[in-house]
Amino acid sequence: MKAFLAPSILSFDMTDIRPSVRTMVENGAEIVHLDVMDGQFVPPITFGDSYVKSLRSTIEALYEAHLMVMTPERQFEPFVNAGCQRVIFHAEATMHSHRLVQTLHGLGVEAGIAINPGTPVEAIYPVLDMVEIVLVMTVNPGWGGQKFIHSALDKVAQVRKIRPDVLIEVDGGIDPSTLPIARSAGANVFVVGSHLAKSPSLAEATKELVDLCG
Ligand code: DX5
Ligand code: ZN
Repeated sequence: MKAFLAPSILSFDMTDIRPSVRTMVENGAEIVHLDVMDGQFVPPITFGDSYVKSLRSTIEALYEAHLMVMTPERQFEPFVNAGCQRVIFHAEATMHSHRLVQTLHGLGVEAGIAINPGTPVEAIYPVLDMVEIVLVMTVNPGWGGQKFIHSALDKVAQVRKIRPDVLIEVDGGIDPSTLPIARSAGANVFVVGSHLAKSPSLAEATKELVDLCG
């Protein structure tokens, strides 16, 4: 099964992000992962749709919004209009995950559902056969640079068993040592933030991770 690298821009300099995104895309990253935080679902606040629209207009890739926000449906249209082809919301942030997946499909984009380390796969059973991507958080959401939570991999394997064909994304603490472990468990989309942001050569670090996906 094909695997993808999805760099997160969270740990980069937000005011000068274009050169880094361009380097990662030119070196094989096919997805730009956008960590949207509202200060409610998670304490930090990052950026909104206008920031994404501006970035999207200059660099071609698949843009996915990872909405770490309450009432995520309020952000669906803005982020779709900003050019996101995939929108992922958290199961913990809504009582209406089934309807929200329908809403995203109605907007013509791929729908994803995310679960925190403390949330079991059972919480998303009813929507598992509807979504294009399942995001299993491998850290608690809110910050880059945290340690990979190994126990989350049991949930990756559990999802893979139910949906052999779905995209399974892991997010948090992914680097060249944890990526292969997550891949063996069944994940095939890998979000990487701080490992790339702190690498001495962004091009080389991207290539290394793309090779591990390949
Ligand atoms: C955390 C975000 C992640 C974050 C990952 O809430 O969802 O996408 O940027 O960062 P690293 O790769 O540093 O764990
Ligand atoms: Zn993320």
